[in-house]
Amino acid sequence: MAVPKVISWPQNKNYAGSSPCGSTKRLRKFLMFATLLTAFYMLIWQVPRYFNVTYGENRVMPYRPAHLNQPARPPQPSQSAQPSRPARQSQPALEFGNLAPESAWQFRPKALRDVREITEKLNLTTQLRKWKLGNFTEDVHIGQYNTCAVVGNSGVLLGSQCGAEIDSMDYVIRIDLPAIKGFEKDVGKRTSMVLFNFKGPRRIRQSSLFSNRSQDVYESRFRSVEGAVLFVDKRSIENIETAVKAYRLSFPLITRSGELRTGIKRAASEIANKKMKGAPSIGLVSVLMMTTFCDYPYMYGFYPFTEDANNNSVLYHYYPGDFVYPPLHHAFAPMHHMNEEYNFNRELHRQGVLKMQVGPCGNQ
Ligand SMILES: *[C@@H]1O[C@H](CO)[C@@H](O)[C@H](O)[C@H]1NC(C)=O
Ligand SMILES: *[C@@H]1O[C@H](CO)[C@@H](O)[C@H](O)[C@H]1NC(C)=O
Ligand SMILES: *[C@@H]1O[C@H](CO)[C@@H](O)[C@H](O)[C@H]1NC(C)=O
Ligand SMILES: *[C@@H]1O[C@H](CO)[C@@H](O)[C@H](O)[C@H]1NC(C)=O
Repeated sequence: MAVPKVISWPQNKNYAGSSPCGSTKRLRKFLMFATLLTAFYMLIWQVPRYFNVTYGENRVMPYRPAHLNQPARPPQPSQSAQPSRPARQSQPALEFGNLAPESAWQFRPKALRDVREITEKLNLTTQLRKWKLGNFTEDVHIGQYNTCAVVGNSGVLLGSQCGAEIDSMDYVIRIDLPAIKGFEKDVGKRTSMVLFNFKGPRRIRQSSLFSNRSQDVYESRFRSVEGAVLFVDKRSIENIETAVKAYRLSFPLITRSGELRTGIKRAASEIANKKMKGAPSIGLVSVLMMTTFCDYPYMYGFYPFTEDANNNSVLYHYYPGDFVYPPLHHAFAPMHHMNEEYNFNRELHRQGVLKMQVGPCGNQ
């Protein structure tokens, strides 16, 4: 009598009890395939659609502030409830008109003090480590100022004529080493501090090593802010140092000891009285920092959208890019919730904590 052949399957606790016959195996394969296909579909089509990204020729879908998409419409009570997605909060209509703040607006020192009570706890300008690059010798310390400007880099600044107003401030903060030369009329020429985001310094180092010197845009950008305080993430110190050394320039450099982003997010959530999502941008860091040492804070050039109120397209940056690689527009960088931060800043503006200038300065 032939002994029946024993087929032994590899023991796998996870599948204990299920008979690993061919059909379930095929089913498993099919399910796995279907899952992967769905995940792929979500990744390629649904996720980008959610963030207003399209592929092909017309890459940038209009990306506009929510309040511009909803022109003065009376609130509709129950009909607006949508089960699948939370309905967008329609903001009270701020008259940005040509996107310039309304004339009746004014600072409210009490509102600033309330915010400062929260942001002060972050020790943004007290727990610092300091370096001196090149021939810089003075001891840097960030004082208390009457008026300050933080200048974002949005293309909305082009033609704004805000330069003189920005230069009239006691302290001027810029972000990510923008170009200034040639844009002074719109963005001013003074700079007291430059805040770098995490990716910028790597890009700068790469650029500083180009052998074709006319392709390195950062040498002249550094030159036009020489002596300003460089505020850098501590992981980026070496990259900045390399570039500055190559250019033979002198700067004070500071880093904030300890983790920054978590504290920023917590503080912003406390101020907004709701949980802020995503990784806070360096723009948000600069705004919160400014509230700690400035009695009259102003914001310029913070506009993360691709269109203005008149449907004119707005450049991501007011200056041309570098030769390293094209930057990712905020509309494609979902890790920062720029829409949410924009609304956060507008709310600070509405409360009179700071003045957010979006659009031309003066009487144009
Ligand atoms: C800020 O400094 C105070 C006093 O030195 C300290 O108690 C507090 O933990 C610091 N806060 C942060 C967020 O580091
Ligand atoms: C420092 O000063 C010396 C003498 O003036 C000069 O030769 C050198 O280029 C300067 N270095 C930097 C980094 O500014
Ligand atoms: C250097 O870069 C510039 C700008 O891209 C380019 O016009 C020029 O031809 C380059 N020079 C050399 C020698 O490659
Ligand atoms: C801008 O475009 C939106 C949507 O396409 C449209 O509803 C609106 O009327 C346009 N506004 C102007 C000022 O053209």
